[in-house]
Amino acid sequence: MQFPENFLWGASSSAFQIEGGWDEDGKGMSVADYNAFKRSSRQADTRIASDFYHHYEEDIALMKELGMGMYRFSFAWSRIIPDGDGKVNPKGLAFYHKVVDLLRKNGIEPFVTLYHFDLPYALVQKYNGWEDRRCVYAFERYARICFEEFKDSVRWWQVINEQNLMIRVDERMNITESDPWKADKMRAQMDYHMFLAHALAVKACHEIIPDGKIGPAVSSTCTYPLTNVPKDVWAARMNDYMKTVYCLDMHCYGAYSGIYMRYLKERDIVPVMQEEDASILKHGRPDYIAVNYYRTLCASYLPANEEHPIGSRVYRGNEVDFDQYGYCRDEKNEHLAASEYGAQIDPTGLRIVLNDYYSRYRLPLLITENGLGMADELTADGKIHDAYRIDYLRQHIEACALAIEDGVELFGYSPWSFMDLLSSHQGFRKRYGFVYVDRDEQDAKQCERIRKDSFYWYQKVIASNGESL
Ligand code: BG6
Repeated sequence: MQFPENFLWGASSSAFQIEGGWDEDGKGMSVADYNAFKRSSRQADTRIASDFYHHYEEDIALMKELGMGMYRFSFAWSRIIPDGDGKVNPKGLAFYHKVVDLLRKNGIEPFVTLYHFDLPYALVQKYNGWEDRRCVYAFERYARICFEEFKDSVRWWQVINEQNLMIRVDERMNITESDPWKADKMRAQMDYHMFLAHALAVKACHEIIPDGKIGPAVSSTCTYPLTNVPKDVWAARMNDYMKTVYCLDMHCYGAYSGIYMRYLKERDIVPVMQEEDASILKHGRPDYIAVNYYRTLCASYLPANEEHPIGSRVYRGNEVDFDQYGYCRDEKNEHLAASEYGAQIDPTGLRIVLNDYYSRYRLPLLITENGLGMADELTADGKIHDAYRIDYLRQHIEACALAIEDGVELFGYSPWSFMDLLSSHQGFRKRYGFVYVDRDEQDAKQCERIRKDSFYWYQKVIASNGESL
């Protein structure tokens, strides 16, 4: 396996999934807290999560031991500005300064996401969040505050994590509207405002941090047709176009693609845009694209009809892989094994995605999420034998090497996740980390950190720059 000499090996996390201390030192509530609390009687929530807020020194020591060259994590907007657009919380900034400084002291490049599913809840109460243009300016202000504050210590920035996935999940956007058309109209406006906020943040970063690098993280989709019937092929393509390509097109070219605009018009939900927006969006071209990749999808042709009109959402079985655009049905791929949580495991899909995005946008790529969520067991010998995870990661790193040989400019690999953390909506039993966090759904215990077998394996991979795979 050949990786470039300065290839960035890292690992990832996000604030609401690891930090805990959800209201400590002045932090405000976020949408992620609000939604996690609704499930508190059944599973772990954001109150303690992995308790990074109180363990960060120990955790960064483990990152150094692992050999990480970068750490991709997020700032909680509501820790820095508790109500989203009001007073800055100095204690929130102080916490992130401590984290960033310690990372740098240990030779680990901080790679900061500004917004990972955790909009300050106060902005929902004040403006219904992203539906209102004031949220765009609140985000721009927050981004500028972060850039000014960390301009000497953070060079790598990620604006929004998985806007393209977040927007489909009502809970994350706090969409409670029951009328499907009104909900989709609101969604389209929110999505558009996030694109605007993204472009403004890119511009601000380039102004304030001249050597700064900034870009989006997309939830990549790679959809195979169920058969080679041309309409199935079309349906699969449309799934990728409507869920991912439209988003990257907007980030990179500053405009919606024709096919997406057609959807917005036919659904009669074209967002309100202002005259100056076109130029803002055009000048928001990112420096790189971050790819989050877990699995592939499969689809068959299912045009909207009277039974399921456009917007009605065709589900197969999970909360994100539905069609609301009126093209397809999500199908099971008989050729792929699935994880116990239903993800269809497919390293070749990663090679396809990397080649696709690189040839389409010609921007350097890195991976900021890739991993296997499993209910790991702490065995009697006090260890976690996660051979399945090693196997998954090995195959996906091999796919990265092949993509590099194909000519893709891939400059880093930062899998999900550095340590066990709260799943985005499935509690703590589902684990992704190299480091086990000893807690269960209801009892946080001491959150003891234990290195898994995959920790020692990945340590060797990093030390040998991929040769030990
Ligand atoms: C990504 C998110 O979509 O998937 C993460 O950026 C999330 O926040 C990860 O944790 C895995 O999904 P889940 O639902 O298993 O936690």
